[in-house]
Amino acid sequence: MLSDALLDWYDRHARTMPWRIGPADRKAGQIPDPYRIWLSEVMLQQTTVAAVRDYFHRFTTRWPTLTDLASAKDADVMAEWAGLGYYARARNLLKCARVVTDEYDNKFPGKYTELLKLPGIGPYTAAAISSIAFDAPETVVDGNVERVMARLFNIHTPLPAAKMPLTEKAALLTPQKRPGDYAQAVMDLGATICTPKNPACGICPWHDPCVARAEGTQAELPKKMPK
Ligand code: ADE
Repeated sequence: MLSDALLDWYDRHARTMPWRIGPADRKAGQIPDPYRIWLSEVMLQQTTVAAVRDYFHRFTTRWPTLTDLASAKDADVMAEWAGLGYYARARNLLKCARVVTDEYDNKFPGKYTELLKLPGIGPYTAAAISSIAFDAPETVVDGNVERVMARLFNIHTPLPAAKMPLTEKAALLTPQKRPGDYAQAVMDLGATICTPKNPACGICPWHDPCVARAEGTQAELPKKMPK
């Protein structure tokens, strides 16, 4: 299975992140805190991992639990968010914290369709929380995943038209086994190996099955419609 090769790679090369339960700890039975996964994924929506680290640390130090954040003053949260940009995210963050506290008994729902109903949670974030925090076999599709799928299957349809076929490919590959690790593995692969420029195909766990690598088209993919 394609997913097995990627999971083996992730076992050896998973990036360490302040909110992440690494593959070894997960196997040892640790489970992620949905509050921390949600917070990190909202911060990561339009921001890089490097930029999010410090903000994540400050937020979780000041508001260690969902209840803490839900009862925070709006102005304090907006002030801590300053610099991250896209301030609607911070307003929705507070709205979401209060809805989960008031209407969901303080517990994030684990189901994709329930998560989608919450403020500030779209398809990407719902799939990320459901898979990473609850180990549900949902498919996370961000720019990294689109690039990896376009290359693996040598899909030359330009984005955004390619979004549907790329999402379908990604969904077909998502395993029932370890879906949370798998979701993070595809994103790590896109961020560290299958990079936009100069991908490191020589050390890629999907070197052999990658159609673009075999055809030599990886540098052209994914194609984008001219703006
Ligand atoms: N980018 C956004 N969320 C991520 C995650 N959980 N792992 C790696 N990269 C990410």
